[in-house]
Amino acid sequence: MIYPIFVDRRISKREEVESMPGIYRLSLADLESEISAVTALKIPAILVFGLPGRKDTMGSEAYASDGIVQQAVRAVKKMAPQLVVATDVCLCQYTDHGHCGIIHGGTVANDETLGILSRVAVSHAEAGADIVGPSAMMDGQVKAIRGALDERGFKDTSIMSYSAKYASAFYGPFREAAESSPLWGDRRGYQMDPPNCREAMREIAIDVKEGADIVMVKPALSYLDVISHARAEFQVPLAAYNVSGEYAMIMAAGQKGWLDYKLVALEVLTAIKRAGANIIITYFAKEAAKWLLENEL
Ligand code: PBG
Repeated sequence: MIYPIFVDRRISKREEVESMPGIYRLSLADLESEISAVTALKIPAILVFGLPGRKDTMGSEAYASDGIVQQAVRAVKKMAPQLVVATDVCLCQYTDHGHCGIIHGGTVANDETLGILSRVAVSHAEAGADIVGPSAMMDGQVKAIRGALDERGFKDTSIMSYSAKYASAFYGPFREAAESSPLWGDRRGYQMDPPNCREAMREIAIDVKEGADIVMVKPALSYLDVISHARAEFQVPLAAYNVSGEYAMIMAAGQKGWLDYKLVALEVLTAIKRAGANIIITYFAKEAAKWLLENEL
């Protein structure tokens, strides 16, 4: 399991995300206790998301050497060198318009965005990230990032590509957590069309060819068939992202007493694993690890 964490430059004390009970936006000062909890539970990896101090048209805090993710990665690597640190490489939290790429003439400019995503990835690698996770769904992003990393000597930094990322309503709570909703329009121009499974296979094949070390299907629960097809077709490690809305639904129903959220969460994680995921990115990681370690169920 990989545990996603949100680090917020503007706060000095952690704040709970309303639609994701138990999940917090952390300040840098909160990292120490969070990381010791994660390592005590033997969770092998985290995925770091950042909320910048200021947003602008180019998303420039995304690639600043003293940006929030870069600072957090340095701090975590100092605290727990053995913990695998992955980072999300995207612009939507950092741009004032909230899109994952830069805007030219009223639309997202794919090719102009590649250089910026490469700078983001290199800045994360410089901070000590083991894995960078491009999630902007720009065509050619894996190739551009691999090239930029190699050129700077980061040959051992891995790429976990959000290869098959659907334009999903299940990202709603994440966008509250990360304040990353687009100001206008939606992400259907670059994220994938939910009814289409074959396109996911094409996207994964392209990313493998461009140098992705790990490929991903996202969301997980409504796309188990896509995970299963991908597992059958490709020989690379496969990640599945059990996204914010999937977490929020289970937690909300659990809080109402409408279902047993522990049992449901473990059943969902088991289904994602059964479908063929080798790696599960999940907000349940801490709790699930606790349940499994304590053998509570
Ligand atoms: C950034 C990004 C998103 C998520 C992960 N990286 C949001 C989006 O594409 O709108 C969603 C994760 C979740 O819902 O848990 N592009």
